[in-house]
Amino acid sequence: MTVQIPKTRKPVFPRATTWDVDGVKKSGIYTWFKPIEQELASGWVVSEGKKMLMLGGYSYLGLNKHKEISEAAKEAIDLFGTGMSGSRFLAGTTSEHTKLEQMIADFHQKEAAMVLSSGYLTNVSTIACLLGKDDYIVSDKLNHASIMDGARYSHAKLIRYKHNDIDHLEQILSRLPADARKLVITDTVFSMSGAIADMPAIIEVCKRYDAILMVDESHSTFVLGESGGGIVEYFGLNPDDIDIVMSTLSKAIPASGGYIAANKKIIEYLRHESRGFIYSGATSIVSIIAAMKSLEIFQKEGKNLVKKLHENTAVFSRALIQNGLEIGESKTSIIPIHIGDAMDAAIAAKKCQDTGLYIHAVFPPVVPPGKSILRASITAAHTREDLLMASQKIARIVQEVKQT
Ligand SMILES: Cc1ncc(COP(=O)(O)O)c(C=O)c1O
Repeated sequence: MTVQIPKTRKPVFPRATTWDVDGVKKSGIYTWFKPIEQELASGWVVSEGKKMLMLGGYSYLGLNKHKEISEAAKEAIDLFGTGMSGSRFLAGTTSEHTKLEQMIADFHQKEAAMVLSSGYLTNVSTIACLLGKDDYIVSDKLNHASIMDGARYSHAKLIRYKHNDIDHLEQILSRLPADARKLVITDTVFSMSGAIADMPAIIEVCKRYDAILMVDESHSTFVLGESGGGIVEYFGLNPDDIDIVMSTLSKAIPASGGYIAANKKIIEYLRHESRGFIYSGATSIVSIIAAMKSLEIFQKEGKNLVKKLHENTAVFSRALIQNGLEIGESKTSIIPIHIGDAMDAAIAAKKCQDTGLYIHAVFPPVVPPGKSILRASITAAHTREDLLMASQKIARIVQEVKQT
């Protein structure tokens, strides 16, 4: 008798994508990675030779291509070159990195800060470094993916509370061991809905259960509050009530990188333990100088730019609603236009792009099934006329798509 050895079924590699990329491509409604050849003034770009109104970028104050910022970045290249020659721990710390960190700490009214090479890396590396397997991370269900990835990488016990539901957060905290190390973490402005976290209530609950509080201010730095100071200004909070502030240099600040601001003890610990800081190249000097110059310009011109951003947001939101569209709980410059069906959202995005609006659809798994959106983000660089024109176009397209 011969023994039949079953043929091994070779696993597919790479694994299947989490959504039907091939199907979307075949349907002719694939709209991602659309290359931009040039940034123009007033929120316009050139893409594939066509002028398009940018409704998908995060240059909230319109600072990208600000003359003084670009000039400063060019001078920095002359002085330091284009490369960083290694990690911050070794050869990658310039005098300018250290100056920027102090400026960031001052901006957030914290003792110290540290800059990493992306916001994603900042969350992953910081969370994984601060918590371990005996600890708890209690995270809003709609927090950014980098927070979820940091939590997984930390090996701490991850518990997610219902989006912005403080009763649920409290229920969870009340069941955790009183002497356990626990970190509560939330986006301050949620990146898909534009909703604002109920920070006064979160602070109150964290104090009651002795939890450490970390916030991700990526979409609220230079955006929330009358002068763009972020969540602390928006709610009139005491900055000491938030233990750890994370934010990015790649949105309102026209550079790339991420940072943590906290007390000296936390930052000193992270500078010597955070693997994403130590084992990765330093943030480029162009980004460092651009961020420093942005903070300087923000001190001089910020108030007017933030006012314009808030006015533009109100103009666009109002126009969308008047044109019969739904924008949910957004109170910020991220404006989700509710479509529902994923295919409808993808078709609407394609039609918008074909008529000169640079905007994308977001569908599952990023948002729950049946909750697909077109996601617009507004900046201070947009003009009122362009926003009104865009809202009318979008409304017409959404109506057309829903009728077919
Ligand atoms: C809330 C939030 N946190 C973190 C990040 C990551 O920031 P970066 O783009 O600098 O990697 C993003 C960017 O998409 C974000 O929206």
